[in-house]
Amino acid sequence: MNRGTTGLLPRTPTLEDESYLAFMESLRNHNIRAMFPRIMGFAEAPDADARPYTRLWKRLMRSQQQQTWHKLHDSFAQRRAHYEAELDAAERSHPGRLHYDPNFEVPKYATLDIHLQPGGYCGDSLAGYVFHHGTKVFYQGDNDQDELHQQVVDLVAAPDDGKVHRVLDLGCSIGQCTTALKQRFTQAEVRGLDVGLPLLRYAHKRATDLGIDVHFQQGLAEDTRLPSGQYDVILAYILFHEVPERLFTQILGEVHRLLRPGGRFTVIDAPNNPNLPAANKLWLKFDALYNCEPYSPAFVASDFGQLMTDAGLRVTHSGPTPTFLHCTTAVKD
Ligand SMILES: C[S@@+](CC[C@H](N)C(=O)[O-])C[C@H]1O[C@@H](n2cnc3c(N)ncnc32)[C@H](O)[C@@H]1O
Repeated sequence: MNRGTTGLLPRTPTLEDESYLAFMESLRNHNIRAMFPRIMGFAEAPDADARPYTRLWKRLMRSQQQQTWHKLHDSFAQRRAHYEAELDAAERSHPGRLHYDPNFEVPKYATLDIHLQPGGYCGDSLAGYVFHHGTKVFYQGDNDQDELHQQVVDLVAAPDDGKVHRVLDLGCSIGQCTTALKQRFTQAEVRGLDVGLPLLRYAHKRATDLGIDVHFQQGLAEDTRLPSGQYDVILAYILFHEVPERLFTQILGEVHRLLRPGGRFTVIDAPNNPNLPAANKLWLKFDALYNCEPYSPAFVASDFGQLMTDAGLRVTHSGPTPTFLHCTTAVKD
């Protein structure tokens, strides 16, 4: 049962899962690096989306996602009692670091099978395990030791006065940035907040295994129930493109409320661009329609820097990241 770990990424339940996922990773790599550049070559054509080659690409992209998730979901579910016991044991060993209300109601918008993950972020008790291995395929092996999360955390803005007592990681998923934030801001209380309890239970187990003292809390980024003016640093890494547009201003208002004067907010997410090149539009449409990513087109089309300004946050930096995402930092004056 216990096949140990490879650094920060635990092993899958079986060796066969591992080789299956290695195949899925190669398929994803082929779809993105070999097939998509060919589509870019004819993306401006009026029939680009309907051409047989594009349809094959879409089919392969979707099937790769479906098969990755189903393999992982089935494999972990066959050993559900074992993995649930692991989560329970972590919770018992450090009960003061995982915070949730058993009566918390997950809003409907957060119950989708996002990216086609069965049960999404909230609907399956082992979603954290499945997500960790599914995103290994998504990141094509480049994040097995949280390397990309470390890079994200290196980009996080800190207050000019250098005082960092409280740090918040909004939409923290399985806490890969949360633990990296604690390693950067060693003296601070670091808290990861997410709507998905199964992710947070896994995040908590993972952090306790790593011996990193962080807190995880189930909650809503738009209504965190955390105290006003107490946070020095807040991060939202790829959260906004996964929430409905109507929540953008609510979340930004909540961030403004939580930050102390001089506190910094960092958003790392898809670039906002209403005039995307045709190939990017095609991919965005594919994601929205066939990869259960329905909220991202509105985020990409938004003038997010302006929304931050409207929320009372002064934008201090806006630019691309080394991984083709966009980083915007702001300060509460
Ligand atoms: C793409 S994941 C973020 C990845 C994560 N930040 C990381 O470091 O890898 C988006 C996360 O946002 C969470 N989420 C979505 N809507 C939310 C909301 N309203 N409040 C809090 N978390 C939310 C989801 O449960 C999911 O874990």
